[in-house]
Amino acid sequence: MQDRISVEKAVKHLAGALPPGFRPEAAVILGTGLGDVAEGLTPVLSADYREIPGFPESTVPGHAGRLLAGALRGRPVLVWQGRFHLYEGYTPGQVCMGVRVSALLGVRTLIITNAAGALDPKYNAGGLLAIVDHVNLTGRSPLTGPNEDSWGPRFPDMSRVYSPRLLRIAQDRAMNLGLRLELGVYAGVAGPQLETPAETRFLRAIGADAVGMSTVMEAIAARHMGLEVLGLSCLVNKNLPDCMAEVSIEEVLAVAQSSGKDLSLLLADIVEKLDG
Ligand code: HPA
Repeated sequence: MQDRISVEKAVKHLAGALPPGFRPEAAVILGTGLGDVAEGLTPVLSADYREIPGFPESTVPGHAGRLLAGALRGRPVLVWQGRFHLYEGYTPGQVCMGVRVSALLGVRTLIITNAAGALDPKYNAGGLLAIVDHVNLTGRSPLTGPNEDSWGPRFPDMSRVYSPRLLRIAQDRAMNLGLRLELGVYAGVAGPQLETPAETRFLRAIGADAVGMSTVMEAIAARHMGLEVLGLSCLVNKNLPDCMAEVSIEEVLAVAQSSGKDLSLLLADIVEKLDG
């Protein structure tokens, strides 16, 4: 109920603030250190999250907390620059505000980006991964509580969260750009602490290839509302149980910023080809 009230407030505000006739087709959520991806956008609206009624404020370094609307390669999109995480103390409903607002503004495609740790020893730090499936290990869901029937069904199917069609487009575009794009399963954890060696071994044993502290809430909320979802990870560190290296937020931000350049190229190309 509270989630619906907040989402509706934001939708009402943004519907009034966007230029008449601007109909966003896709939304992009930019993760830690990936804010530069928005550089190629010609904005028609820029709104700090704190200006949007119903929105919580973003608190993490590297997260600008701003919504941009505009044309990317000629296509109308919403770009959420910075997200809300469970580890900041936000509720799953707050974490998914941007997704739900996007859907109610008419968006049909959601591209979720994040910074993740590589669990597959073959992956390189600084590489990119397209998410083929996820394991939600947060113990939370954005769908807990009375179902909002106008948003989606009580028991939404999760057999294909990440669209095979969008994955094909992403692979095709990556090949075209000469970028290596891994395909793998993302484990979503609540954080904020990183994994112990035993936890890392467990994640690998249950079939995860990458691990991070975001994305799964947003992907679930998006599928609930029938959006087509693509998930792209910047692999910012190697997370290997038998040679654990300490991970610092500074390092994560530095790697995300440099591989973020590859990601922005890839993203723009994908957006351009969203129709297939
Ligand atoms: N574990 C969890 N979350 C992360 C990691 C990691 O190794 N790297 C970036 N986000």
